[in-house]
Amino acid sequence: MSTTVIDQIHRHASVRDYTDAPISRETVESIISAGQRAATSSNMQAFAVIAVIDPETKSAVAHLCGDQRHIVAAPVFLAWCADLSKLDRAGELRGLPRHHEYVENFLVAAVDAVLAAQNATLAAESLGLGTCYIGGIRNDPLGIVDLLHLPKLMFPITGMTLGWPRKPGTRRPRLPIEGVLHWDHYEAARVDTALLKYDQEMAATGIYNHRQVPAPGRSGQMEEYSWLEHSARRIAQPARAGLREALHEQGFMLE
Ligand SMILES: Cc1cc2nc3c(=O)[nH]c(=O)nc-3n(C[C@H](O)[C@H](O)[C@H](O)COP(=O)(O)O)c2cc1C
Repeated sequence: MSTTVIDQIHRHASVRDYTDAPISRETVESIISAGQRAATSSNMQAFAVIAVIDPETKSAVAHLCGDQRHIVAAPVFLAWCADLSKLDRAGELRGLPRHHEYVENFLVAAVDAVLAAQNATLAAESLGLGTCYIGGIRNDPLGIVDLLHLPKLMFPITGMTLGWPRKPGTRRPRLPIEGVLHWDHYEAARVDTALLKYDQEMAATGIYNHRQVPAPGRSGQMEEYSWLEHSARRIAQPARAGLREALHEQGFMLE
């Protein structure tokens, strides 16, 4: 990988503010084609992407994704889907049994979808476009299935807005490398140090508006709301509890 690619990767920031300028179909195709070049399990390419450009459909998508304004503002919304339906067809065409019930097959398809999505993100950013992933696509996955006419064995994994940035996104620092990289074996102590260091670094950015919150275990004391509190609150919430049923409905039995 050339240093220019690495530099571009380090400049990444999600963009949520877009101009009205359209994106040509050729540009969208070249971005998706770059997405397709990502590695894919056994070359099965078990994903599909729906590019939503019709404003009414895009508004309906935005509503299903929790009324996120940047979906309406962006000229293109990409719905990245796990797609075992084309492998089902391959099995049918070749007269072989099809096993879609395994967790493994769902994971294969979901991983294929996100690898392609991330390649597409880098391609888009290289053209000066901005993107923002939209996990809100899993708020009401069966609503998305209906709206985008997804057949059985297709499931929306992540959405993505695509547009010309009006304003660049805020570049968020990442964990120190000790928080994610371990040599030869996992070392929990390194992670703890990294989390505390990162919490302070994020507090200093002002991204969380320097809010104060009660310090856990120290009655009456306040401390700055930062990444630890933010992430802890996130994981304290139920997370899209109906997903298993929605997956079953789409034919992913997860056995
Ligand atoms: C799978 C996934 C789902 C996401 N869902 C949303 C979303 O629904 N809405 C949103 O505004 N940002 C969403 N994001 C963007 C993250 O908030 C963002 O990547 C993260 O805060 C780090 O910021 P950065 O991308 O600017 O570095 C999502 C990111 C990922 C990877």
